[in-house]
Amino acid sequence: MSDLFPRRYAICGVSARAIGMFLKPMVSEFTEYAEPVALLDIDPLRFKIAKEDVPQIAGVPEYKAEEFDKMVAETKPDVILALGMDCTHVTYILQGLAHDLDVVSEKPMATTSEDCRRIVAAEKRSKGKVICSFNYRYPAIHRKMREMILAGAVGRVTNVDLSWYIDTQHGASYFKRWNRIRANSGGLSIHKASHHFDLVNWLIDGVPDTVHAFGALNYYGPDGEYNPSRKDGRTCGDCAERAKCRYYRRWATRSSALKVVDDHIGAFAGSRKQYTDYRPDRCIFDSAIDIEDTYVANIRYANGALLNYSCNFSMPYEGYRLAINGTKGRIETQEWHAPFRTPFPIEHERQYIDYFPIFGSQERFYAVENEGGHGGGDPLIREDIFIEPDPERPYAILSGAQEAWHSVAIGEAVWRSVKEEQIIHLDFSLD
Ligand SMILES: NC(=O)c1ccc[n+]([C@@H]2O[C@H](COP(=O)([O-])OP(=O)(O)OC[C@H]3O[C@@H](n4cnc5c(N)ncnc54)[C@H](O)[C@@H]3O)[C@@H](O)[C@H]2O)c1
Repeated sequence: MSDLFPRRYAICGVSARAIGMFLKPMVSEFTEYAEPVALLDIDPLRFKIAKEDVPQIAGVPEYKAEEFDKMVAETKPDVILALGMDCTHVTYILQGLAHDLDVVSEKPMATTSEDCRRIVAAEKRSKGKVICSFNYRYPAIHRKMREMILAGAVGRVTNVDLSWYIDTQHGASYFKRWNRIRANSGGLSIHKASHHFDLVNWLIDGVPDTVHAFGALNYYGPDGEYNPSRKDGRTCGDCAERAKCRYYRRWATRSSALKVVDDHIGAFAGSRKQYTDYRPDRCIFDSAIDIEDTYVANIRYANGALLNYSCNFSMPYEGYRLAINGTKGRIETQEWHAPFRTPFPIEHERQYIDYFPIFGSQERFYAVENEGGHGGGDPLIREDIFIEPDPERPYAILSGAQEAWHSVAIGEAVWRSVKEEQIIHLDFSLD
């Protein structure tokens, strides 16, 4: 056991993700390696919720958003965890780096390419290092694809097809919450699709250079086809129209939709209010929504590879199709995510990779799967973050700040291309 451990972690943004993904494991399986020493948030209710859910942190001191320096002076953390609303990450990453501390940020690292540039420049001046927790790299199928590409199965990658499907429950959740405002999340081409872009960037060793996209708000917002009436400010928990709302009714019985009581999980999880002044069950048809729910994009990489990407946030089922073509062959996979939410027969419960050499016989691969959130990715990335990157794994998998910037830059170029109807050239210079 190294003298380095346990490392002291300050949690900036006591989000649902902070509690489930980081705090609970820290006080259970990682006690030798990690110790939560500070909580920082704008909302004091988040401290109460976290301490109820994780009683072991009852004595951990609480800090307001503007008390970062005080927090560092008093609790002497080794690592800052930036886990709040996306647009808040940059503030805590930069402050952490200014104190020469390591930082782990949830994805996306920031909500603009310019903020990523500031982070990468600050990291160069700091003794601290930034990790962005891209857990989508870790599921067994993705690691197997990376290994196949590294082993030369497809040769030089020429083009990639990635279509991501997000179902009506998961998709609508983004339009009920802070994510629906671009200033908070960067829009879904950053908040969500940066995961997808990072996965491709990592799989193919790609540095993106040019982006073109189209996009639209088709399902949500006031013009949504299933909006029961054009009215702003409704919240699911007490909405008189929810029995007429197809999105609500898809996931609820008619009797529960008719019984309007303010205890819907959107506003409260179980019987608890989750946030002080903020409701996460806002109407998906509000005119405040300023982001897209449908994208198609083309990305060209410096190594010549081309990505054809699409994403839709109101699909009848959830999953993705991914195919990678190269000079020696093709690998392809399809995931049917959340079969329990899929009301249709699904083609296969167990995901696999098909390999088609350009000249030769097809082979099918099943990967050794493991338990845990996000396709088994969450437990593995936690070990790499809290202990160290697995020394037995012969390739890099944890993302640093530069790679996180690439994914945000694509996502920003996607929505800018949609707005400006132009091809966007990416620039990763630091000046
Ligand atoms: N990697 C993944 O698979 C994955 C999954 C879910 C969420 N996430 C990421 O985790 C993060 C949290 O998401 P969530 O849905 O759990 O959030 P959430 O809505 O549960 O919590 C957001 C938190 O941010 C806090 N906050 C807002 N402004 C703040 C400020 N200025 N300073 C400090 N705290 C502030 C809020 O009070 C709240 O506690 C996001 O960045 C999200 O993208 C990642």
